[in-house]
Amino acid sequence: MTDHVGIDDIALATTGLVVDLGVLAQAHSVDPDKFYVGIGQSEMSIAGEDEDVVSLAAAAVQTIADRTDISGVRTLLLATETGVDQSKAAGVFVHGVLGLPPNVRVVELKQACYAGTAALMMARSLVCSDPSEKVLVVAVDVAKYDVGSGGEPTQGAGAVAMLITADPSILRIEPKTGVHTDDVMDFWRPNHRTTALVDGKFSIEAYMRSLEGAWTDYRAHDGFAYDDFDHFCYHQPFTKMANKAHAHLVALNGGDADKAEIAELMGPTQTYNRRIGNTYTASIYVGLLSLLETVPADLAGHRVGMFSYGSGSVGEFWSGTVVPGYQLHLDPELTATVLDGRKAIDHEAYLHLHDFALPIDGTSMKIDERAARNGFRLAGVDADRRQYERFEPTSAVLG
Ligand code: HMG
Repeated sequence: MTDHVGIDDIALATTGLVVDLGVLAQAHSVDPDKFYVGIGQSEMSIAGEDEDVVSLAAAAVQTIADRTDISGVRTLLLATETGVDQSKAAGVFVHGVLGLPPNVRVVELKQACYAGTAALMMARSLVCSDPSEKVLVVAVDVAKYDVGSGGEPTQGAGAVAMLITADPSILRIEPKTGVHTDDVMDFWRPNHRTTALVDGKFSIEAYMRSLEGAWTDYRAHDGFAYDDFDHFCYHQPFTKMANKAHAHLVALNGGDADKAEIAELMGPTQTYNRRIGNTYTASIYVGLLSLLETVPADLAGHRVGMFSYGSGSVGEFWSGTVVPGYQLHLDPELTATVLDGRKAIDHEAYLHLHDFALPIDGTSMKIDERAARNGFRLAGVDADRRQYERFEPTSAVLG
């Protein structure tokens, strides 16, 4: 048994296409500052016809494999709420297209945006019980709401892959966590729908209630006190949600922080999310990567409080400490290239992709349109069988 388990590598992938929220605001005759300032989003990553959670997850794992030895990985846990099959785990497609060895077990996990954290905690337990184990965790989603709905400007898509090992190079996960489950209908997506249903204002309330419950449980289980933390990172359905959540946590702890102080504290965790949009299960880990990659100061030894929320709802508060030398295992320039390399599309092209669907009658379709830039794409569907292919990433993504 070991307690020294955590994130040894972490990498982001997103789609090849992006919509500036100014374009959406213009199409809906809305003041763009409602999106840029009010909800704190500037762009949303949009999946092309040839992109889905499998292509995104494979790209994120490949980034890790390109710089860190993943031989010896025996488990791949893929968390998503936008899976591609009711039965076969998306991770098995990822296993296939990456050519991983057969002695890697694969499973898919679901509980709205919380499942990535469930996967991380399961990975941690596996490595705690046998420190020779290495686990790949992938949190990946394509967030889609109805056109014209309040959720539309919060859409996004992306994957975060993490390698979980003993003696990690980036973040050591601490043992205490606090959890909170509450059966509520704040956001959901019945099997027949491609877009989520949401009770927007109530979902914010449910998130806050979950934060309060998870924090209370964390403290009741000997978790650290508020003042023991250097940073906080929250699930970010839109970046302003983190500010609201943190103000709530401050108040719960009898503190008082003005909006500017909170905005300053949350800022480094929001740089990437602001440009990608909601990535559901991946969102909190996009926030963690943003914190680690965009703060110029050395964060070694700093404690980060993490609040993961998944509608429906399950929340978990946990913490980690940053490992000295973590910077050597990150690649902010690559992340910048991934974000800057996306192709901006107009409103018409976005609407086409919003409505795009694979055949549901068993007919075959070859996808000629190429949006993916990161080395993996959905090439088509043949008699209800998805066909994935690898290609040489475009130079923008290679950096
Ligand atoms: P809305 O009702 O269209 O927006 O949608 P609003 O009128 O509440 O305005 C939003 C903010 O913009 C407000 O600020 C306005 O004042 C401001 P706030 O009061 O919140 O501080 N505003 C402006 N600011 C500057 N200039 C302007 C301007 N106009 C307005 N001109 C809502 C907001 C979040 C409800 C909507 O986007 C939505 O339904 N989103 C989807 C649901 C969601 O993200 N919920 C969050 C909690 S649930 C969660 O996190 C789980 C989730 O990730 C799913 C999962 O778990 O799988 C969603």
